[in-house]
Amino acid sequence: MSNSIRKWIFVLLVPALVVFILGSVSGGAGHGAALQSANIDLHDKQSLQNGAKYYVNYCMGCHSLKFSRYNRMAEDMGLNEEHGLTGDDVSTLLKENMIFTYDEDGKQDKVGSLMKNAYSPKAAAEAFGTSVPDLSLVGRSRGTDWIYSYLKGFYLDSSRPMGVNNTVFKDVGMPHVLWELQGWQEMEHAEGDGEHHGEPTLTLSKPGKMSPGEYDQVVRDLTNFLTYVSEPAQLSRKMYGVFTLLFLLLLFGVSWMLEKEYWKDIH
Ligand code: HEC
Repeated sequence: MSNSIRKWIFVLLVPALVVFILGSVSGGAGHGAALQSANIDLHDKQSLQNGAKYYVNYCMGCHSLKFSRYNRMAEDMGLNEEHGLTGDDVSTLLKENMIFTYDEDGKQDKVGSLMKNAYSPKAAAEAFGTSVPDLSLVGRSRGTDWIYSYLKGFYLDSSRPMGVNNTVFKDVGMPHVLWELQGWQEMEHAEGDGEHHGEPTLTLSKPGKMSPGEYDQVVRDLTNFLTYVSEPAQLSRKMYGVFTLLFLLLLFGVSWMLEKEYWKDIH
């Protein structure tokens, strides 16, 4: 093998190896149960809208999204003129279905307001013994599969103040706010063989209003929504990437033809 080929193999292989090793280390560092795959689709506008609806109804009482504005969110989710809605239609839709927060004068927040909520950090500390985090960036800090597994991972635990624990967030301070939909789960430890502990599994001991399949879909939509919120520009960013690559390809073609043209008479 020639020296230069060996050099190239080295140059390509070493970074690949480093990435592989880092990947497996960070993957193994998580505590608790293995994560389930959220399988979301950021381009599914119906799912994003549904996630937003559940978010304002079930989560925003405690968690703000302090970098998001209602109208930008509506626009990104396809509630816009392209789909036959006027600006007034969107305002009405938002005011009736999404905006449940009020300003200091007691007036309903405007469509251009930030998605802040009314829960003061002090009240939260008193109620839950911990602060209630803003969820603007949770899609990036915790990751999509983590959020999905978290929302599916609440189980009854009478030793905890809220009566629940969580498979991926041990001793969590948040109550199981979606219990009406999901019902209640219990943790069961399968019999171990003495040496190995059995894998803990969750069983639905008291079903809620939804079937497990329907609940999974709601949680998937919520996860999709939180992932979108953590980087709204990713919807367009990927498109710019594709355009840039196409442009470079075109430029390459033109340069190549130009090169042939320049050299064709020189021998
Ligand atoms: C009653 C108040 C309350 C409601 C409603 C609520 N949460 Fe929470 N949530 C909390 C508290 C408190 C914590 C912090 C838990 C801790 O640190 O132990 C938390 C933590 C979280 C976290 C983990 C954040 C992190 O990175 O540590 C996520 C994700 C989350 N909540 C999502 C949701 C979603 C989605 C909903 C709506 C379905 C929701 N929460 C509704 C109180 C609430």
